[in-house]
Amino acid sequence: MNAPRVFVQSYGCQMNKLDAEIALGVLEEAGYARVSDPAFADVVLIFTCSVRAHAEERVYSNAGKLKHLKRRRPDLVIGIMGCMAQREGKAILRRLPHVDFVCGTFDFPRVATLVEQARQRRGIVACGTERLPMPPRRLRTRPSRFQAYVAVMRGCDNFCSYCIVPYVRGREVSRQPAEVLEEVRRLVDDGVREVTLLGQNIDSYGKSFGRPHALADLLYELGKVAGLDRIRFITSHPRDISRPILEAMRDVPAVCEHLHMPAQSGSDRILALMNRGYTASRYREVVALAREVVPGIAIASDFIVGFPGESQEDFAMTAAMVREVRFQNCFVFKYSPRPGTRAAELPDDVPPEEKRRRNLALLAIQEEVSRRSHLEFIGRVVEVLVEGRSRRDPRRLSGRTRSNHIVVFEGETGSEACLVPVRIVSATPLTLVGERVLPGDEAPGGTPQVASR
Ligand code: SAH
Ligand code: SF4
Ligand code: F3S
Repeated sequence: MNAPRVFVQSYGCQMNKLDAEIALGVLEEAGYARVSDPAFADVVLIFTCSVRAHAEERVYSNAGKLKHLKRRRPDLVIGIMGCMAQREGKAILRRLPHVDFVCGTFDFPRVATLVEQARQRRGIVACGTERLPMPPRRLRTRPSRFQAYVAVMRGCDNFCSYCIVPYVRGREVSRQPAEVLEEVRRLVDDGVREVTLLGQNIDSYGKSFGRPHALADLLYELGKVAGLDRIRFITSHPRDISRPILEAMRDVPAVCEHLHMPAQSGSDRILALMNRGYTASRYREVVALAREVVPGIAIASDFIVGFPGESQEDFAMTAAMVREVRFQNCFVFKYSPRPGTRAAELPDDVPPEEKRRRNLALLAIQEEVSRRSHLEFIGRVVEVLVEGRSRRDPRRLSGRTRSNHIVVFEGETGSEACLVPVRIVSATPLTLVGERVLPGDEAPGGTPQVASR
């Protein structure tokens, strides 16, 4: 008999992508083969996101389309996994009657058993809140040979008033440093050159085992892993990032000079309603500290526009922050009330068209900031980790700088996973365009200086 085939799709953040990879690893270990089209699958798993209503609607619409497949092949097993599964539980089975089982963010390590059970009896709901041991990482399952996500903690204790994550991912639990190191060493032995450590609130790594500054120590330890060229960590919280973490970023050569530290708003009144635990001026101080300790650091942010009660003045303060701080990148989201959160009790009183206007206005400001800051790169040589062919222009290769800027340049395939020096010759607000600096191609006076940031 042929191996049973599984198709896995994931929405949402990096943690969901990693969970999908872990679940796929469990199934591959149990003898399943992966396919890239649901039409050829015996099992379809969809890892869902609940962070905004729109994310859930997309899942309902895409999972809805599977009903035709299920009608033709009633033995197909469809599982809805992840954050929306955790939040909605069996309500999903009512809205999507062709779904066979629902499995949340705590139960996914036992996905192989659930699939077997669902074959016998449809309608299983596995949305417990007990943390199960994670299965050992199956190296062959990971999607990239040279880049990998590593979860160092799960859950979040912050309860930002708008956010569903603490409800669907539970309380914060950090993994022991020895366990993280062991996983990273195995990945590096298998060809990984860049790891991104994941945690919803990564600067508080270690709090659950009584060592609130454990992230800095972990970065120093990871810095000793031979063959690991780049280390990133996301997501930072302006209240929890500390000087020791920034110093580790400066002192450990592999740690990239890039922070994703969402500000969410530039108005103190809105920040207080969001329960973020800092003011706009405190945020600016943290940015100044990061720039003082880590020269050349790039800082990216998230913003929510149209939070309940956000006035024109509040929004103007956010716009001013984006103009002033000069982020490397900004992700802007329209506020979406999430049932059960504190903010959902407030009237969602900024009209959709006004949210849209603020969203576009903020993006336009950031575009101008990016355009200008990208011009400053022209003429510089940067270190690029080559990721593969550019999706927009397949004649070019695409990769990232240490500061997380995307660089495209002409080049041969075969340099994927390599660190190469690239001289930037032009730029758009989204990308830097460069030319590979080849050996012997030095500027008069010697080897080209690779600006590491
Ligand atoms: N733990 C991370 C990621 C949280 S979700 C962090 O704290 O940054 C990613 C982003 O989605 C958040 O930073 C926030 O900007 C946005 N977001 C979260 N809940 C939202 C909501 N209800 N409506 C709109 N955007 C939201
Ligand atoms: Fe959500 Fe806030 Fe936790 Fe981020 S820090 S996951 S925004 S509650
Ligand atoms: Fe991530 Fe969405 Fe869940 S952002 S943690 S997949 S709600």
